[in-house]
Amino acid sequence: MNEILRLENVSLNYHTENGEITALKNINFSAEKGEFIAIIGPSGCGKTSILSMISGLLKPSEGKILLDGKEVSSPNDRIGYMLQKDELFPWRTIEKNIFLPLEIKRIKTKEKKDEVYKLLCKYGLKDFIKSYPKELSGGMRQRAALIRTLAPSPELLLLDEPFSALDYQTRLEVCDDVYSVIKNEKKTAILVTHDISEAIAMSDRIIVLSARPSTVLNVHVLDTNKDLPPIKRREDANFSKWFEILWRELANEKK
Ligand SMILES: Nc1ncnc2c1ncn2[C@@H]1O[C@H](COP(=O)(O)OP(=O)(O)OP(=O)(O)O)[C@@H](O)[C@H]1O
Ligand SMILES: [Mg+2]
Repeated sequence: MNEILRLENVSLNYHTENGEITALKNINFSAEKGEFIAIIGPSGCGKTSILSMISGLLKPSEGKILLDGKEVSSPNDRIGYMLQKDELFPWRTIEKNIFLPLEIKRIKTKEKKDEVYKLLCKYGLKDFIKSYPKELSGGMRQRAALIRTLAPSPELLLLDEPFSALDYQTRLEVCDDVYSVIKNEKKTAILVTHDISEAIAMSDRIIVLSARPSTVLNVHVLDTNKDLPPIKRREDANFSKWFEILWRELANEKK
């Protein structure tokens, strides 16, 4: 495998009315092509800030973020960022929502449109191309949002709590769906989640952040069976061991 992303001594300070706060301090980690990484940590420790910096929307106060060895300085087509809320525009049909990034980037070619239609068919949205977001279930909207993120063909996907708006049952199903799309399309993914089980069920590696000012507390390489889809991986013999380890690490950070 080869490396796609590297964070080198990344720190981030926010300037507020009450002075400067250090959100992140000396963050170092890297991601290999095709890898699925989860980032977990206490609320407010800087998980979203890390994704915003990787996406090029926010500049580190110190350190470097390298995509294939080149410093990220502005938003980049090779990176897709899926926010916590599906953020589909209610007045646009599913098709028009998904084409939006292609229109903005002026790359709405016939070839790209065909690719999007293929994804919509493959992931069960064929009959909803002309529907409005409100006519879809939460899970279908999430899949549509993922296809919109995938439309410009990014290599690296950043997912910020993408399932948090869903009920538990749907969440498990959508998790499986999203995971299979990411694996089939051979993407690299970085998932931010509050949910320890979700992190274990989906990822190859988990990065645990400390409370603020946050540093990388631990990086765990999971020994679960990666050939299993997330729902099945919850039954893996090593699943509860990892849950216990991560639970303790996070509980210590809250003290
Ligand atoms: N625009 C901003 N201005 C000032 N401070 C900010 C800003 N954005 C975030 N912060 C602060 O930086 C810290 C990290 O915020 P961030 O949103 O990255 O955390 P998070 O880990 O994603 O939190 P959560 O788990 O609640 O989503 C927080 O203490 C927050 O108050
Ligand atoms: Mg956040």
